[in-house]
Amino acid sequence: MLGGELKERLEKIYDVTGTTLVTLDICDREAVLAKAREVKPYFIINCAAYTNVDGCEVNTDLAMAVNGTAVANIAEAARENDATFIHISTDYVFPGNLPVDQIYTEDMEPAPVSAYGRTKLVGEENAAKAGKYYILRTAWLYGLGGKNFVKTMLRLSQDRDELTVVDDQHGSPTSTTTLCKIIEAIMEKEPEYGVYHSTNEGFTTWCKFTRKIFELAGISTNVKAITSKEYKEMYPQSSDRPSNSKLSKEKLKAAGIVPVQWEVALEEYLKEELKEN
Ligand SMILES: NC(=O)c1ccc[n+]([C@@H]2O[C@H](COP(=O)([O-])OP(=O)(O)OC[C@H]3O[C@@H](n4cnc5c(N)ncnc54)[C@H](OP(=O)(O)O)[C@@H]3O)[C@@H](O)[C@H]2O)c1
Repeated sequence: MLGGELKERLEKIYDVTGTTLVTLDICDREAVLAKAREVKPYFIINCAAYTNVDGCEVNTDLAMAVNGTAVANIAEAARENDATFIHISTDYVFPGNLPVDQIYTEDMEPAPVSAYGRTKLVGEENAAKAGKYYILRTAWLYGLGGKNFVKTMLRLSQDRDELTVVDDQHGSPTSTTTLCKIIEAIMEKEPEYGVYHSTNEGFTTWCKFTRKIFELAGISTNVKAITSKEYKEMYPQSSDRPSNSKLSKEKLKAAGIVPVQWEVALEEYLKEELKEN
């Protein structure tokens, strides 16, 4: 979802070599090193991951291989070629249990509670081995080229009069377009290396996010607010999600990179998404 849009955008400005699982398995160290030797990149950007959060709980070896170990291959390739490594990470490196009036900053200690979060944290540790690196932690990502929450809600609204959506989990919906713009700004400005929280500005809940999607799309389906506890009673198999995914953007803003409000990005996305259908 992110990689496809990023490649399309960057190709307008840079000489880009894009890879997919078919053309380069990032778990294959030799192949990663060979590709970097061939391309001699200035930047290497890793958008690849095993992103199925529930799947990570079951396929733990694969999750660790892709999200954790493989990142060391890319970091090694970056180091060998004196390239700067831009790696995408997640709010799931935090436990998500901070009181909701507080916000996670980059200097807070990660403590993941899911397999996905644990493997992505190993990925962060490996990304840092590149020396010249940016770890961009994003959250609640949606975009044109992939399955995501916005598309699911639009689809469900087609044959339901009412949807029940959790109203006690807080975070920042983030469009892939905004994240691409953040990556482009990082490439342009090359601020101090390190971790940067990279989401749209502003916070909401999944329920209020859904209401905004429907308001902007002109959909009349009612959105009923429920608690995470009520949701768990309805769907006992579902895995627990963080109640607080709020990431501070102060460090990003101090670097001169100011993401737009989530409502603005959502409106921009829906114009394209609804045009396609
Ligand atoms: N989506 C979110 O809500 C969210 C939230 C926070 C952070 N993030 C992070 O944001 C980044 C981009 O996410 P996304 O939603 O764009 O993910 P995505 O749509 O699931 O794309 C990940 C891509 O990685 C590929 N891949 C998997 N294993 C690979 C391997 N061994 N070698 C090479 N490619 C491999 C996948 O290929 P296949 O499809 O063929 O398997 C897929 O094309 C990831 O780092 C993710 O952890 C996402």
